Amino acid sequence: MLPFVPMVKGYFADDATRAERVQKLFDTIAPRYDLINNLQSFGLHHHWKRRFVALANPNVEDHALDLCCGTGDVSFALADSGTQVTGLDFSQVMLDYAKVRDELTRVTFQRGDALATGFPDNHFEIVTIAYGLRNLADFEGGLREMYRVAKPGGRIMVLDFGKPSFAPWRWAYFTYLKWMVPVFGKIFCRDAPAYAYIHESLEHYPAQDGVDQMLRNLGCHNVAIHRILGSAMTINYGVK
Ligand SMILES: C[S@@+](CC[C@H](N)C(=O)[O-])C[C@H]1O[C@@H](n2cnc3c(N)ncnc32)[C@H](O)[C@@H]1O
Repeated sequence: MLPFVPMVKGYFADDATRAERVQKLFDTIAPRYDLINNLQSFGLHHHWKRRFVALANPNVEDHALDLCCGTGDVSFALADSGTQVTGLDFSQVMLDYAKVRDELTRVTFQRGDALATGFPDNHFEIVTIAYGLRNLADFEGGLREMYRVAKPGGRIMVLDFGKPSFAPWRWAYFTYLKWMVPVFGKIFCRDAPAYAYIHESLEHYPAQDGVDQMLRNLGCHNVAIHRILGSAMTINYGVK
């Protein structure tokens, strides 16, 4: 009789192997990450990230921490305002691509875990996480760490895929994520499960309303949700 082999659906796992699998996923797709982002969002992710950074209102005196920085889009946009930026990610391969893009070495990129950054309490005026919180093994733990390292008055901001409340739009959007986006992964990375992961992880993510509640529970004020394309993308905002 054959030994029992657990069925591996892909990169998503709702158990202790989650971080390890997510890291492997991003190490694998790093060379094509920026290209597929452009294709799957029709180039719109640049606009969403610019809006996200504008809401953070960065200035030259600020220190910003960009968690799950990946190849650095948000880190660079924050640095454009003269803000001192640290970009942190646990995928060395994603960081290597970020460093290649950082010709002027404006950003300090470092390897680390968003759930335990090692930075002191009350340290940053801005703490961002773009398309990162959904990937963490502990969403509340990630927000707790963001709150801990933010200065009083510091902005805590999350950009991620949202869950539209208008049912027909949600159906169309989830259908696109579930069936079309993996095709990009298959064609450009030879790895459909890597891009099926977006839909799988979103199903397990509390999204804009859950994150809003968690920010309130942490004691943030000025808590708000900014909705893009009928909540296909959302920005959660809170001030420590
Ligand atoms: C979808 S990418 C987002 C990259 C970038 N922020 C952007 O918007 O393009 C998610 C990133 O989160 C990183 N990541 C996931 N879990 C992490 C963790 N626990 N600690 C640090 N980085 C993590 C991955 O390595 C990956 O680079």
